Amino acid sequence: MGAMLSPDELRQIELSPYKQDFPLLANNPNLAFLDSAATAQRPAVVLDAERTFYETMNANPLRGLYRLSVEATQAIARARAHIARFIGATDEAGNPQADAIVFTRNASEALNLVATCLSEAAGIKAGDEIVVSIMEHHSNLIPWQQVCKRTGATLKFLRLDDDFEISDKEIAEKIGDRTKIVSVTQVSNVLGVTNDIKKIAAAAHAHGAYCVVDGAQSTPHMRVNVRELDADLFAFSAHKLGGPLGIGVLWGKPEILDAMPPFLTGGEMIDSVTETDAVFSPVPQKFEAGTQDAAGAYATDAALTYLEDHDMDALEARERLLARYLAEQLQQKDYVTIVGPADPARHVGAVSFEVRDIHPHDVASILDMSDICIRAGHHCAQPLLNYLGHRSTCRASVAFYNDKADIDKLMVGLDQVWGIFHGHH
Ligand SMILES: Cc1ncc(COP(=O)(O)O)c(C=O)c1O
Repeated sequence: MGAMLSPDELRQIELSPYKQDFPLLANNPNLAFLDSAATAQRPAVVLDAERTFYETMNANPLRGLYRLSVEATQAIARARAHIARFIGATDEAGNPQADAIVFTRNASEALNLVATCLSEAAGIKAGDEIVVSIMEHHSNLIPWQQVCKRTGATLKFLRLDDDFEISDKEIAEKIGDRTKIVSVTQVSNVLGVTNDIKKIAAAAHAHGAYCVVDGAQSTPHMRVNVRELDADLFAFSAHKLGGPLGIGVLWGKPEILDAMPPFLTGGEMIDSVTETDAVFSPVPQKFEAGTQDAAGAYATDAALTYLEDHDMDALEARERLLARYLAEQLQQKDYVTIVGPADPARHVGAVSFEVRDIHPHDVASILDMSDICIRAGHHCAQPLLNYLGHRSTCRASVAFYNDKADIDKLMVGLDQVWGIFHGHH
């Protein structure tokens, strides 16, 4: 299943030229940080950007007409345009759809916004169907469960075949004339597999349904183009691609965002207010009640610049090698079982696995004693784990700043874990 890394490929991941850009990694050379799927580390340029914002342009964005406030407002506007370009959200003429970029706190909030407001705009009612996949993160599942509870609509699941894929047959069976919204993740945070969003969006559109995409795990690892995917709405978090915590992004086709009612209400999102009613601002302000995290937007802009300056394609190619190496090395251990595709090349970022007869929490805690960070648990995807017959797994995940030594360290650590429980290997 897939060729082992060649000597040349191994050489490419031998060292990381990037770690020096990330203060936390540079200051902790013994740390093997293998939990970037949960949150990435941030490069110094992102930390500097936060500070620069507060030191040089701090004012309440959108309130007031003085220079500082205008600069803060412009910082947000520039970030919107950059984000739009980054995810390929351009109009027919190729201009970035900056006003179709809505800031939220994180991907979860963006997905809650969509579930609440799109289902209202679409008039979801009993008898309608909303389709998600069985691999959704709870953030792209529970909001839809709630919509179904409120409206009487039915939630349907795209399930996986033995090869961890959503088959054409499954798509044809689950997406039909009753389907009003399809909401799927592009990359699974547990299995590391990529879903064919183009195909799923085409099926949704063929039945007049909307296609919502959870891009939390795809945007950090691959060039995303929402136009090519033909997604209707697309959500992700800045913190998983090197931006700050607390900033999420929702992009939507402008006419769809226009048709959606506001989510949170209050200051900054209105044109005029009377005692009994309010006229809402146009998108994106309509969806951004209250003071926005302008410093976070400014720093997100810097995170994207960092990724582009280092060539997203090169970073993606490196991550693919690292993930392949990780999966291949895990496969060498007879006491490890990978939960996910057997082909190491299909893992984007994350590889889930079990260590025979040892609880994932024990594995992670013992590895932590050697400064190895992995995730253990249900990864906010309990229905997926149940479907696959697991209660929890270990998950190691890579980003471009990792190197071969991080993964080798994990392998030594796993042998130690196994040795502690079962005598030396
Ligand atoms: C696939 C997926 N969707 C959504 C989320 C939620 O992201 P956040 O916690 O930033 O809202 C995550 C986070 O782990 C994720 O992996």
